[in-house]
Amino acid sequence: MLKLGVIASGHGSNFQAIINAIENKELDAKIEVLITDNPDAYSIQRAKKHSIPIELIERKNFPTRIAFDEKIISTLKSYSIDLVVLAGYMRLLKSQKWFSEFPIRIINIHPALLPSFPGTHAQKDAFEYGVKISGCTVHFVDEGLDTGPIIAQRSVDISDCVSEEEVKKKILVQEHHLYKSVIKMFTKGSFRMEGRRVVYTQD
Ligand code: GRF
Repeated sequence: MLKLGVIASGHGSNFQAIINAIENKELDAKIEVLITDNPDAYSIQRAKKHSIPIELIERKNFPTRIAFDEKIISTLKSYSIDLVVLAGYMRLLKSQKWFSEFPIRIINIHPALLPSFPGTHAQKDAFEYGVKISGCTVHFVDEGLDTGPIIAQRSVDISDCVSEEEVKKKILVQEHHLYKSVIKMFTKGSFRMEGRRVVYTQD
């Protein structure tokens, strides 16, 4: 069974979608821990409700970003995590240890079709740009902002959306499906890199 460590800073609807998929037996995985840097994250309530251990690790309690990152890494190691799932975690990964401890084992979901519209206002940026098709991307995480190798994408027609909020909602529904299906791929096969390309082999 794949051991997941979820890191979330906020609302956690993707976290909830993963919880639901596990409880419905769609996913042969277990969430060993929720790590959050935000004591007010609603994700904490979700974890409590489903008896998932919670580790609150706040930036203000560490002298440097590297020390903060390394506390998160050692916490994940203490739970023997196989796959690190970022679900609305609002920080970059600064320590190189992330990548030596979890090589091609850290994933993130982004609410746009990367490499278009990286950053924290992806849906607003796509809406204001006027693109008709946007979507979501699951990618491996590197040190950059939404720059890691792409694992999977799903397109969403936003041509009928009249507000940024509508775009967010429409994409979020697809995020929940996409994240679940990518985690399922980890339970059934393995990934390797060919240059920047992510190649998947089913067991
Ligand atoms: C999602 O839009 C995700 O793509 C982005 O942050 C948001 C998190 O939403 N990385 P939630 O906390 O999972 O509801």
